[in-house]
Amino acid sequence: MHRSSRLPQGFEPNALSAALTRLRAEGREVLDLTVSNPTRCGFRYPEAEIRAALSSPGVLTYDPDPQGALAARVAIADHHGHGLRPEELLLTASTSEGYGLLFKLLGDPGDEVLVPSPSYPLFEWLARLEGLDARPVPSYFQDRWHLDLGALESAVSPRTRAVVVVNPNNPTGHFLTQAEWAGLTRLCARRNLALLVDEVFADYPLEPPVDRLASALLDPHPPCPVFLLSGLSKVAALPQLKLGWIAVRGPGALDHLEALAFLADQYLSVSAPVQAAAPRLLELAPILRQQILERARINLAALDEVLKGHPRLTRLPVEGGWTVLLRRPALDPDEACALRLLEATTTLIHPGSFFDLPGDGHLVLSLITEADRFHQGLSRIFPLL
Ligand SMILES: Cc1ncc(COP(=O)(O)O)c(C=O)c1O
Repeated sequence: MHRSSRLPQGFEPNALSAALTRLRAEGREVLDLTVSNPTRCGFRYPEAEIRAALSSPGVLTYDPDPQGALAARVAIADHHGHGLRPEELLLTASTSEGYGLLFKLLGDPGDEVLVPSPSYPLFEWLARLEGLDARPVPSYFQDRWHLDLGALESAVSPRTRAVVVVNPNNPTGHFLTQAEWAGLTRLCARRNLALLVDEVFADYPLEPPVDRLASALLDPHPPCPVFLLSGLSKVAALPQLKLGWIAVRGPGALDHLEALAFLADQYLSVSAPVQAAAPRLLELAPILRQQILERARINLAALDEVLKGHPRLTRLPVEGGWTVLLRRPALDPDEACALRLLEATTTLIHPGSFFDLPGDGHLVLSLITEADRFHQGLSRIFPLL
């Protein structure tokens, strides 16, 4: 049987995943400092209210709208504010599905999208599965992270169709500045590119950057088409409910929405129950967001306290999001270091290389880990760094 060349050649786990599977099979308890699934982090969910939201009469009717139920879009528009209108929104089953729809909309096989590096490692595959190439363009760190507009401009080829940015970025926490936004939208307009802005973590600002762009929606009339992605996974800490969305602004927005609705109509993948529940779930979401922000602040403070006793180690500033980057002397490659820590201390951290951090010397920790586990994990791994 022929298999599409869009897929990987093999499905071998990397050394770290293989070691993790082996330890768990041996019954060893692993202290996971990479956990990004909020349902596993000891947060207090308003369970009765969530169950009630998922049991409304709307759950039993099917009246599909390819753009998504209007009441859900009204609630999402309200959540974002900045004058966003329900007709500028299209619902998806996840942010990842949103990327899939956008890559189908924007490119033909062999076309390219530019993605920031370091960043969320799924872009390469989300693009490849739609027949596109994701070309990484390095951002750089100097006191804070910066988008390299010059490098982006040079990376544009006749096949480039879009630029993807994550605001704030995962795992660097970098929020775009107003100046970066202006430069980026001008570049996209000049080179006839769409701009995809992933704002799944925008509700989680942490340390103060100067001139933060809190949301791309602050710009009501961008000079290029802007597609903003978000979803309940992070906004309401409910990844299991599978609801994401795309907001469209800029030239041709309503045309692009019509085309996206055509694409979504082929699947109609968003379930009626989650659409019916969305307005209530968004009302409940601040309860979770508050706990997550508090957890991230507590863990950052604990990390800073422990770092005082380890002058060889530092951390990068965290403008926003759920992760922190730890810097260490690169005595061994990051992946080897993560494997060494896992085997010696049964504590799991991610090597920077998983997110394309340049060179060695970066480890990635989740800030939503339960506070006592986070602290325990740090005291296990720091003596070995
Ligand atoms: C930057 C970014 N975008 C999108 C997603 C995926 O969100 P969803 O669960 O809505 O597909 C993640 C998940 O961690 C992410 O880090």
